[in-house]
Amino acid sequence: MASRIPLVIDTDPGIDDALAILLALASPEVDLQLVTAVHGNVGLAQTTENALRVLHLAGRSDVPVAAGAAGPLVHPIPERAGHVHGAAGLGGVELPASPAALDPRPAVVALAELLLAHDPGTVTVAPIGPLTNIALLLHVFPEAAARIGRVVWMGGSATRGGNVTAAAEFNAWADPEAAAAVLGSGLPVTMVGLDVTLPTVLTETGIARFRDGGGHVGATAAGVLRQYVDAARDRYGIDGVVVHDALALTEAIVPGTLTTVRRDVVVGTTLGAARGQTLVDRRSVAEHGVEVAEAVDSAAAVEFLVSRLETYGA
Ligand code: RIB
Ligand code: CA
Repeated sequence: MASRIPLVIDTDPGIDDALAILLALASPEVDLQLVTAVHGNVGLAQTTENALRVLHLAGRSDVPVAAGAAGPLVHPIPERAGHVHGAAGLGGVELPASPAALDPRPAVVALAELLLAHDPGTVTVAPIGPLTNIALLLHVFPEAAARIGRVVWMGGSATRGGNVTAAAEFNAWADPEAAAAVLGSGLPVTMVGLDVTLPTVLTETGIARFRDGGGHVGATAAGVLRQYVDAARDRYGIDGVVVHDALALTEAIVPGTLTTVRRDVVVGTTLGAARGQTLVDRRSVAEHGVEVAEAVDSAAAVEFLVSRLETYGA
């Protein structure tokens, strides 16, 4: 097997964040070396605690968790996503506390030290929440940020409008200034947005497979998803859930899973109706810009996720 990809997940767990972390831990292609928590779906204290507990659930409390930004760079956000993910962020499921202590370093320091300890271009960073931590890394430790191999971000939307407002996807909306900084930084960013996540629906059939065949971890993951499934049915009338973050991690684990096109992307940072919109210029292929995911084999992506989660029952 080729050498494993050193991986950092920057996350705001979050139900689909939890599935994404479990997917990474079940994937031998990557070596999850650090989890950095960020504000987002719920507050930072909760996202940090949830990250510790999800790692412990999978028996991987050895992976360090460092806490990052408690809020956006500039403007506070009016609401979080507790109504979707549950007040505590994991669908009302209380996972056992981790025996591991929180890494005492701030997230940007932990991330910078990891990047400086690896050869340039080897580490994949998968932000699956607002980009506040990554923007801070760019400003505080630019020499470390320049060593990132890939940024695979769940966020934005080219053609599917928004999910938190008519214009904006949640991770972009939660910190548009951070998104603008990262997408405009020149870092090799792959944007995994609603265009490819919304068509990729994990149905009850798939959930049942890892619920029944994925051991304690699979059964717990299915329980964490329950609120998400009910919300998706009530809100979108679909039979299943869109596990946005897990699709981004699939691309991080197997580069090239998604069909991407390099595009110029501008992020709306005004305080008006377009705040957080990712305006993707699809008129041409950009010289620099961002690799925007524009097509996906949704059935294959769901099968990848389900089959990997089933391995927890092996
Ligand atoms: O828009 C979906 C994104 O917002 C996902 O990362 C989900 O966890 C929420 O943070
Ligand atoms: Ca998330």
